[in-house]
Amino acid sequence: MCGIVAYLGDKQAYPILIKGLKRLEYRGYDSSGVALINGDLNLYKRKGKVAELEKFAKGKNVEGTVGIAHTRWATHGEPNDVNAHPHTSQDKNLAIIHNGIIENYNVLKEELINRGHVFESETDTEVLIHLVEDVQQNENVDLVEAVRIALNQVVGAYAMVIISKKDDGKLIAAKKGSPMVIGVGDNEFLIASDATPIVEYTRKVVYLEDEEMAVMERGKELQLKSISNIKHTPYFQELTMNLDVLEKGGYDHFMLKEIFEQPTSIKETMRGRLRIDDGVVWLGGIREYTAKLKNAKRILMIACGTSWHAGLVGEYLFEDLTRIPVEVEYASEFRYRNPIITEDDVVIAISQSGETADTLAAIKMAKEKGATILGICNVVGSSIPRHTDAGSYTHAGPEIGVASTKAFTSQVTILTMMALMIAKERGTISRSRYHQLVYELETIPEKVEEVLKTNDIVKKISALYKDSRNFLYLGRGYNFPVALEGALKLKEISYIHAEGYPAAEMKHGPIALIDEEMPVVVIAPKRGHYDKLVSNIQEVKARKGKVIAVVTKGDVDVAKIADHVIEIPDVDELLVPLIATVPLQLLSYYIAVMRGCNVDQPRNLAKSVTVE
Ligand code: M6R
Repeated sequence: MCGIVAYLGDKQAYPILIKGLKRLEYRGYDSSGVALINGDLNLYKRKGKVAELEKFAKGKNVEGTVGIAHTRWATHGEPNDVNAHPHTSQDKNLAIIHNGIIENYNVLKEELINRGHVFESETDTEVLIHLVEDVQQNENVDLVEAVRIALNQVVGAYAMVIISKKDDGKLIAAKKGSPMVIGVGDNEFLIASDATPIVEYTRKVVYLEDEEMAVMERGKELQLKSISNIKHTPYFQELTMNLDVLEKGGYDHFMLKEIFEQPTSIKETMRGRLRIDDGVVWLGGIREYTAKLKNAKRILMIACGTSWHAGLVGEYLFEDLTRIPVEVEYASEFRYRNPIITEDDVVIAISQSGETADTLAAIKMAKEKGATILGICNVVGSSIPRHTDAGSYTHAGPEIGVASTKAFTSQVTILTMMALMIAKERGTISRSRYHQLVYELETIPEKVEEVLKTNDIVKKISALYKDSRNFLYLGRGYNFPVALEGALKLKEISYIHAEGYPAAEMKHGPIALIDEEMPVVVIAPKRGHYDKLVSNIQEVKARKGKVIAVVTKGDVDVAKIADHVIEIPDVDELLVPLIATVPLQLLSYYIAVMRGCNVDQPRNLAKSVTVE
């Protein structure tokens, strides 16, 4: 949460910073700000989106070749102009941007107030920059050393950059817990929360490690050291990201673009791993842990939100195919409930961003207790992959819409491949079933392509139900997680209350809600528990509920009783979640658009939840 971007070089910083902020707006968008040094320190901050900041700064002095900028998701203090970053030191010489939470800020603030510091905002960040200033003055050290000493007094998480009016040729950055990438170009440095603001200027990057500081000076090499003052050698990496993925490419929203990208993103997830010529699944990233997985007494899937839903599909897949017991855990609960973890457990942490604070904390805890930790993440170089023993990237490409779409189908694709690979190793799958699933998995991108052709039908259905106040989503077996995911998608972007349920559970409570006002989305493909779902649909209809059914192409039974049907191709029961989720994503999208909601940046949400 919160996006930071900084620039030092020969170019004008302001346009680079604003463009960078727009790329990072998915991380938070309740206020934003920029600070530039050009003789003076010019600071502009505004409540609202980056566009508000741009309007505010128009016509003002935005000159300067060094600057920092921030887009905020409020933690300490309401979103307003004063609490927006950057924050400054008391003497207005230093400015800081920060992503993370300084947990002991209250204690530090009190001490600083006692020493005469006066604070303008309610933020923990302002405390940090005052602390740096205080250390510099009292210890009589240079700014870099003052930052280092101050960081040793801080408890919490940070990715922060500091600039100084007295020294406009320098950026000082540090990180712990929150992500930070440094781009090194020709006579220029860029810093950002992820690589998207950097990639068009340079592909040479360094991912800062926890408790590491970086000093960037004009005409000098990048200098790294730990906050305990040990010099580090930078490990440079090459960005492979394609710039197109950062633009809407003709779509009205990133979410719609990402829904339509799924045939390609799923293909990318399978590339080089599903070797169709020899009919083999091979995930190189977990190769060395195959034996560990094969012999695991238990697998724990740990995740949050949509990624947790992917984990639930994973539970069905793994138990079905590998016969290893699986538990799926909300990371936020798991980390605080003293769970039993043994060295024979394998934890699979699932996360699009790779930065989710609860997931990260849960895997650190499981690691301490001796479990093997594998990761399934989308963002390369993010924190979670760096804390796992091994893992597989989903390679779905940057997901910018806050509502997760293509990341989910890619996570399920990896889980399917992993389950097949381990089932084969364990001998819990027959040769013919293994080959049938491998070959069918390979056809999923074209099946998704076919599902996307339901776009217009889904749009029409959306228009009929856009004003509904509640929605129910029902599914059984593999499609129970799909129902949960459909409901989450709808509520997060359209603000309509929606619940997902296992269809058979309906009669244990939710059936009381059903009347002519209640749309019920039922995932009812031919495979699985079709007859039972037909009965559930009858039960809804008997109470005058409106049924929107996702059915297998050519279905007649459900079509006779449902109010609307959305047809999907026939695929194996295990693979249905990969295609049945897609029309539900479209349904949420169109309903949200028709209700005038900001689908890419829904209220109160952020793409990357780096606070608990
Ligand atoms: O980046 P992660 O996959 O770890 O994020 C987990 C959740 O915050 C995320 O899936 C969230 O639920 C999305 N907004 C869902 O669309």
